[in-house]
Amino acid sequence: MDELDKLRKIKAEELRVEKFGDVHLEKIRAFCSYEPELVDFLIEDALNQQKRKISVTYLWFKRDTDELVAYITLSPDCVKLKKINEGLSKRFREKGINYKSLPALKIGRLCVDNKFLNKGIGTLMIQFVIDIARQISRLVGCRFLYLDAKRNPDPKKDAIHFYKKMGFDLYKERDNKETPMYMDLWPVISELTDK
Ligand SMILES: CC(C)(COP(=O)(O)OP(=O)(O)OC[C@H]1O[C@@H](n2cnc3c(N)ncnc32)[C@H](O)[C@@H]1OP(=O)(O)O)[C@@H](O)C(=O)NCCC(=O)NCCS
Repeated sequence: MDELDKLRKIKAEELRVEKFGDVHLEKIRAFCSYEPELVDFLIEDALNQQKRKISVTYLWFKRDTDELVAYITLSPDCVKLKKINEGLSKRFREKGINYKSLPALKIGRLCVDNKFLNKGIGTLMIQFVIDIARQISRLVGCRFLYLDAKRNPDPKKDAIHFYKKMGFDLYKERDNKETPMYMDLWPVISELTDK
């Protein structure tokens, strides 16, 4: 692999997304990340959670080699406006929205294999989630994306910077392990309303 190839971003057409199933159990064993908890979740819990209808995991494969390059786990959630984030709550009150919480799609886990970091796959996965949230927003309503960003003492591995780049805002400072973040989907869902 030459230097240019290492810098090249992977395009969406080069990838295939499949909902996690029993057929993938062998394939996931080779998955590797500097965040071991996220490997353990994929191998030990993701499919069980899915079978219990708690979350759904999507596996991302490179079409030409059939390698598992990343996965993402999603579930419905809500963002509590009051108490937790007064600024957010105030913004909605000013618009006449007085609910304690609003519907959200939660990114429970998101992980790119070490071999494929910095190739744009994380960005493609966020676009994929926004697309799903748009569909949900038409069917039952969905106003936010929500997640707990995994913190890492090494800034190059600290997911908060990635999510900020993707347009997420801080929801609340918690501790040094996880930081809740959200994205208001209004700019991408407003034009869908009532159509
Ligand atoms: C965070 C993660 C998903 C990013 O995926 P990725 O495919 O490497 O990200 P992309 O290549 O799409 O990067 C998009 C941009 O974010 C930047 N970026 C990615 N990770 C970053 C980090 N940790 N710190 C700062 N910037 C980061 C990239 O440099 C890129 O910037 P550019 O557009 O200016 O080139 C990946 O590093 C990962 O899986 N980490 C381990 C697991 C983890 O922490 N998951 C998050 C759990 S909440």
